[in-house]
This record gives sequence, structure tokens and C-alpha cells, in this order.
Amino acid sequence: MGVIVNGTDVELPDDPRVSLLDLLREGLHLSGTKKGCDQGACGACTVLVDGQRILSCLALAVQYEGRSVTTIEGLGDEGALHPLQQAFIEHDGFQCGYCTPGQICSAVGMIEELRRGVPSHVTADLAATAIPCSRDELRERMSGNLCRCGAHNGIMDAIAETYGAETHREAAE
Ligand code: FES
Ligand code: FES
Repeated sequence: MGVIVNGTDVELPDDPRVSLLDLLREGLHLSGTKKGCDQGACGACTVLVDGQRILSCLALAVQYEGRSVTTIEGLGDEGALHPLQQAFIEHDGFQCGYCTPGQICSAVGMIEELRRGVPSHVTADLAATAIPCSRDELRERMSGNLCRCGAHNGIMDAIAETYGAETHREAAE
């Protein structure tokens, strides 16, 4: 068994030193996932593994045998943009676009953390079973994804519009 990437079972590399990021970009030619710092500092390489966000530059591909990896290429539904991708366009959530795939994958994983009630540094109620997507939570939870173009305001607006009302409703239930 290999690793499932965007629904397709792909072979793991023979060399156990190959990072998941390099497998995606160099081995599978999925260049949407970006290499920024290659040392866990920028978030450009963020992908989802079984729905959780990880930094693929810090992950060895062989560690993910049998796991399901979703990259920006696999996020939309049969060619249609994911709602968050559409919102990034509408809110000018990017300029050069280099950080964008990582921002979007990170936000999708981050929303699931809110839904599971995983607290952050700014969460007031540590016992909450679901946490609303407030601006403070957004800023804190997306702080690992840097944008050198300074598009953070548009990025925050896009995420808030896509998930804000929904997560506030879920947290109130
Ligand atoms: S390339 Fe992975 S965090 Fe920067
Ligand atoms: S849009 Fe250029 S780095 Fe974020």
C-alpha cells in the first residue's frame, strides 16, 4: 500500500528521506503545494492528512503509508472551485498567490479544529465543544501561514465569510 493522494493510491518513494512535500511536487508534479522555507516556518507547504493540516516540508513521505493526503488540487469538487477558493478571489485574498494553496488548506483544517473544540492561545472557554470562528481565533490560528504580499486582511475576510456564520451557529448549539 502507498499513500492516497487526492483519492489516488500512489507508490511511496524508495528513499525514506524524501519529504512529503518533495513527493508531491517532484514525484507527482502536484506543484500547487509550495515550498517556501522548507523548515516549518512559513506554512506554504500545508496540506491535509485525513482532514488535519500538516506542514509537508517537515513530514517524511514514508510516514504516511495508508493515509489520505489532500492538496489544493484535490480540494474542489470535480473541477469546481472549493467555496473558500471562490471567496479568496472575491476578497482579494492573494497577490502573487505563492502562499495561497497553503493558506486555503490550512484554513480548511483549522475550521475542523474549531468544530472539534480544539482550543488555541486566545480561546476563552477551554471546555467548549465547538468554538466560533471569531477574528481573534482566525488571526491566532492562521498565524503560521505567512503572506509576503501582505494579503492577510483579504485572507481573513474570505475565511470569515465562508465559515463565520456556520461556526458561530455550531458553537451556539
Ligand atoms: S515550506 Fe513548509 S513551512 Fe515553509
Ligand atoms: S499572496 Fe504573495 S505571498 Fe501571499
